[in-house]
Amino acid sequence: MLIEKLKSYIDSYCPWVRRPAKIFYLAIWGSVFSRNLVRLAGIYGTGKADTHYYASHYQQHFAEKRLQPLKLLEIGVGGYGDPLQGGSSLRMWKRFFPKAEVFGIDVHDKTAFSESRITIMQGSQNDSDFLREVVSQIGPIDIVIDDGSHINSDVLKSFEFLFPYLDENGTYVIEDTQTSYWPKYGGDSYILSKPSTTMGYFKSLVDGLNYEEIARSNFTASYLDMHITSIHFYHNMIFIQKGLNKEGSKYALKHKY
Ligand SMILES: C[S@@+](CC[C@H](N)C(=O)[O-])C[C@H]1O[C@@H](n2cnc3c(N)ncnc32)[C@H](O)[C@@H]1O
Repeated sequence: MLIEKLKSYIDSYCPWVRRPAKIFYLAIWGSVFSRNLVRLAGIYGTGKADTHYYASHYQQHFAEKRLQPLKLLEIGVGGYGDPLQGGSSLRMWKRFFPKAEVFGIDVHDKTAFSESRITIMQGSQNDSDFLREVVSQIGPIDIVIDDGSHINSDVLKSFEFLFPYLDENGTYVIEDTQTSYWPKYGGDSYILSKPSTTMGYFKSLVDGLNYEEIARSNFTASYLDMHITSIHFYHNMIFIQKGLNKEGSKYALKHKY
């Protein structure tokens, strides 16, 4: 592919040639493919299109939101402990959503990658005090993407904390759910519906979509039952759509017991 060849050609130069060449490359190709997340993921080098197939799902879910003045928060800026690496996906979101404010959090200090419309904060996704500071700075969030530690307990803790702060039509995305099966990350490959694993937890929310049909008279709906309108499971990723889940039931009264 010509674009990828050009990118590795630029990467092979020394920094003082590479930096301006890369800015020029991103400006040109980024604007040519600004509506196409699959191409943007490759251009910005996020790994959301090559090592994973996430970009096409993002395209499908986010295309209609593209021109909205959104607030997007991504957990995991990238580059881990390397201060020179990170921020690729944040720059990709900034390009795709031209009116969005993009926020990133990372346990390592990535604040040097902040720029216009990109704000980065340092802290852990499993620290509620830090997350409280983050939401107080951002206000209601339209999109959360969890591409952080992928430790099952962190994924669930961040979701339970942040989901109530999502805008009423917001979307919460979790990447790399393969760790749900990996013991090192708190996953389990034997008990596939274990509530402490990412997949086990989110599978358990599926019945909540139909909570109005549950005929048992002592059933009490939870906040999540009432505020999730769809859950999409893909290979290694989940999209949770927020909304008012209150269409009413034609049948429940007849079957109550
Ligand atoms: C896979 S990388 C993110 C890649 C980036 N989102 C992209 O697509 O270009 C994961 C990042 O999560 C960060 N991370 C790991 N544990 C974390 C935690 N507990 N809280 C926040 N960030 C964490 C790592 O430092 C790393 O930079």
